[in-house]
Amino acid sequence: MKNVKIAPSILSADFSKMGEEVRSLETCGADVVHCDVMDGVFVNNITFGIKMVEDIRKHTTLPLDCHLMIVHPEKYVERFAKAGADIITVHWEACQDNLKEVLELIKSTGVKCGAVINPDTPVDKIRDVITLCDMVLVMSVFPGFGGQKFIPSALDKLREIRAIIDASGKAIDLEIDGGVTAENVEEIKAAGANVIVAGSAVFKAEDRAATIAKLKA
Ligand code: DX5
Ligand code: ZN
Repeated sequence: MKNVKIAPSILSADFSKMGEEVRSLETCGADVVHCDVMDGVFVNNITFGIKMVEDIRKHTTLPLDCHLMIVHPEKYVERFAKAGADIITVHWEACQDNLKEVLELIKSTGVKCGAVINPDTPVDKIRDVITLCDMVLVMSVFPGFGGQKFIPSALDKLREIRAIIDASGKAIDLEIDGGVTAENVEEIKAAGANVIVAGSAVFKAEDRAATIAKLKA
């Protein structure tokens, strides 16, 4: 299996002590910090924005994976890049026909780019841009909240996208986000995901390091 990276989602962290939370992730063996940016319009929840990313940046050297669940992501890409994002992912549902342009805009700021699809969006919608991406993100819950149940149809999408990535010969990451647990992580990896987002599974665990190790093993 490819090298698997664990990306805890700070959506499930204690926002009042985010610096400490992020440092703890690094100590506990996380590979990436997954930052869920929500605007209350694209999704029915509000989290944080550019300033949080800028402040987190000072607390970790881990890559910051900024998952933008916002309308008009193109308006904010440059500022997230400047704030210290290492990769910015944008939803097909937010960009639609402009997805390719938004991905190119992200690249032009010097950070990695990724396309995201919701559980009810077919792979076909992003097929043409997959090989332009540094990462593809398959949502296995409808975005908005942590702690939801994994939607199994995401596994078929992972297999389909993994085949496209492998055929391309490019080093494109395949990320899964939503409802990942120690119980279902094996089949998720077997389906081709190599970047594993886990929010509640990590933050609700008594032993974060052991949970991260288990997800990675
Ligand atoms: C959902 C977010 C996810 C979420 C995952 O909108 O994009 O990153 O935090 O949380 P869990 O792992 O608890 O499903
Ligand atoms: Zn996310």
